[in-house]
Amino acid sequence: MTDPRPLTDPRRLTVRAAAKINLHLGVGAPREDGFHPLDTVYQAVSLYDDLTATEADDWSLSTVVDPALGAVELPGPGENIVDKVADLLCSERRGAERSGGVAPAAHVEVSKAIPVAGGMAGGSADAAAAFVALDRLWNLETPDEVLLDLAARLGSDIPFSLIGGTARGVGRGEVVTPVDDDGAWAWVVVPAVGGLSTPAVYRHWDAMFPDASPEPAPAERLLKALASGDPHVLATALHNDLQAAAVDLRPDLGELIAEGEAAGALRGMVSGSGPTCVFLCESAESARAVAGELRASGHTALTAHGPVAGAHVVA
Ligand code: C5P
Repeated sequence: MTDPRPLTDPRRLTVRAAAKINLHLGVGAPREDGFHPLDTVYQAVSLYDDLTATEADDWSLSTVVDPALGAVELPGPGENIVDKVADLLCSERRGAERSGGVAPAAHVEVSKAIPVAGGMAGGSADAAAAFVALDRLWNLETPDEVLLDLAARLGSDIPFSLIGGTARGVGRGEVVTPVDDDGAWAWVVVPAVGGLSTPAVYRHWDAMFPDASPEPAPAERLLKALASGDPHVLATALHNDLQAAAVDLRPDLGELIAEGEAAGALRGMVSGSGPTCVFLCESAESARAVAGELRASGHTALTAHGPVAGAHVVA
């Protein structure tokens, strides 16, 4: 996460953060705080947002979206998760110095290639990148465990976006433990148009499964399949409890999954709360062929591999 190398002049750095897929997403009945207990296995895959932070006297944030993702709506000023990271780091710094008056100052540019509102933790990736970049730029030297704690306050997926790789997440997804993963898994990602909001999908899941157990489905079977290193075995173990709710809200996702599997994917599923769908393939070559076939029938289809690193300095 944090990086010891000195910054060049002018002080500026770029941090890259990856999208995530939930290989297993077990969901339990909602807790008293409204969040759902999860047992999940995340994998970071090679679709990235890059965040560049430059030293400045005031605060500004701009976002550039990869045209391949189509027209997307982004949160307005002050609403963006990167603004929230900056405010949180500054309030921590104020607390440490007991001085007050530390306002965020930096020019930040986010270049997005992760599907927006797609169930791939694009916002969490930006937040993780912002934590790493601003911590460096402002010389805060926040210990990793404190950064993970601050990240968890802002969003359930952000601690995973910091650590990357493959990891099990429990609690509401924010308590993460790295998992050994020597596989090189090949994926096709189809960012379906028209976002499903995460809270809406959870609410719909509550309505569909009013008698759900408070215990989420455990991840053990998935972890065993992952250790085999065999995509055919992993394909049989992929599991997403939110898929039923996402497909009920967007029946076209069921058709898309069938289409990708007919094109040669070992298994397709909704990513997290959707609407992005992901397809596990036998090899990178097979993923290219599946993506080609999906594109020929009018879909946007990206290839990706995992696991990849968490948020890290690239320049
Ligand atoms: O924590 P995060 O900001 O990612 O959560 C977004 C929304 O997703 C929450 O407000 C909640 O409605 C839902 N959620 C949930 N249970 C979780 C994680 C998220 O109900 N474990």
